[in-house]
Amino acid sequence: MGLSIVILAAGQGTRMRSDLPKVLQLLAGKPLLAHVLECASDLAADDICVVYGHGGEKVKTVFSDSDIRWVLQAEQLGTGHAVQQAMLDIPSGNRVLILAADVPLLQPITLHRLLEKTPDTDMSVLTVDIDDPTGYGRIVRNNVGISRIVEQNDASKDELFLTEINTGVILCPSEWLKNWLTNLSNNNSQGEYYLTDVIAMAVTDGINVHGIKADSSVEVMGINDKKQMAEAERVLQARLVDELMTEGVGFADPGRVDIRGTLSCGKDVFIDVNAVFEGDVHLGDGTKIGPNNLIRDSKLGEGNIIHSNCHIEDASTGSHCEIGPFARLRPGAVIANEVKIGNFVEVKKSTIASGSKVNHLTYIGDAEIGSDVNVGAGTITCNYDGVNKHKTIIGDNASIGSNVNLVAPVSVGKGATIGAGSTISRSVPEGGLTVARAKQKNIEGWVRPNKKEVK
Ligand code: UD1
Ligand code: CA
Repeated sequence: MGLSIVILAAGQGTRMRSDLPKVLQLLAGKPLLAHVLECASDLAADDICVVYGHGGEKVKTVFSDSDIRWVLQAEQLGTGHAVQQAMLDIPSGNRVLILAADVPLLQPITLHRLLEKTPDTDMSVLTVDIDDPTGYGRIVRNNVGISRIVEQNDASKDELFLTEINTGVILCPSEWLKNWLTNLSNNNSQGEYYLTDVIAMAVTDGINVHGIKADSSVEVMGINDKKQMAEAERVLQARLVDELMTEGVGFADPGRVDIRGTLSCGKDVFIDVNAVFEGDVHLGDGTKIGPNNLIRDSKLGEGNIIHSNCHIEDASTGSHCEIGPFARLRPGAVIANEVKIGNFVEVKKSTIASGSKVNHLTYIGDAEIGSDVNVGAGTITCNYDGVNKHKTIIGDNASIGSNVNLVAPVSVGKGATIGAGSTISRSVPEGGLTVARAKQKNIEGWVRPNKKEVK
């Protein structure tokens, strides 16, 4: 039997108190909806439909390159009404799996179990036992099985004590569902069309409703406010770090690292405390990340040592480089093998070939630096004339003295040496020594002024 998935994502998420629609709030660097889509895509469904509404086009734009069937729910009249909007294009013979975009920690294994345990003609609800069921729909059972779901605001005193709750995940044959949805009423405390009311209808129609329990209440927690966001973030971070440790990555403290995107690592990688990884990051075999580093969308080669307090973004390194402490690799920094980038060095849109060293207090922007070059402390590539950016090219084996200004466009020949304090604005030939600075004068007979008394 075919499977169609419907993800409910139209709600505003008032309790987030945010201008950003709830489904776009970031968890581990990805929108809530992205997590649910990732889980859904593991199920080989015929189609995945997202019901959107609040936030409108903004939501669609974020996911513009995924294969989603978007259905607009212009007015948010309830979860039942939301599912109804999606039913038109769902084949009658299919089963429909309903997920909520605000239940982002759900794992594919749980859904596979739900699908396997539910005969094609039956219905099932993913439930869980929870210590504090406040806010959730309660599962009401009779002696045969589930009889209905009652929402928090409509529950009787006794029902409020029930601790088995609806996770929001429901599996149902589409033909029945279409029927029941048209019969929903909004005669309840919230004046909404509740999806959960279809359970009682199924029971009346003699359809078996299975309550399948999730293993942990954490996996199915619904996210409605910033407190729950933070709670879910910690759970997800622990999960991501756990996976990496299983793959052999070492952490000084698994609780003090944040992965906001995708981190892939080779063998024998070690990550010290307070490292933050954003976007897609790859760390090659044997790379060590020191404390307090931020690394975003970058690829670091084998055996790199990243000392503490570096900021690395859209950059790449070869093998056995040493970066930092306090270094900044900005977008387009392409570093080859065995390069050293030291403290207070900023590199932007530049290539640095193997074995070169830029060890202290330097700005390298729009430059091509050859191999085995030494760049002295305080050197600046003056790449900007106030209007346009220009290139600096430095040949292999060149030695740039301390505090040199390279006024681009300019090139330095292979093996050239530039004296400290030079301001270079014309090309430097290969092999020689170039000095471009005012001559030192020692002034004889000069007298240091006396300190004046202030009255
Ligand atoms: C819902 C369930 C509740 C369950 C809980 C689990 C109903 C009536 N209640 O309650 O039984 O315990 O989830 O987390 O189904 N949405 C729309 N359109 C709407 C309304 C909501 O797309 O008109 C979407 C929301 O964006 C959200 C999901 O449906 O992703 C759930 O809606 P929400 O308002 O959060 O329902 P809960 O009160 O949490
Ligand atoms: Ca919710």
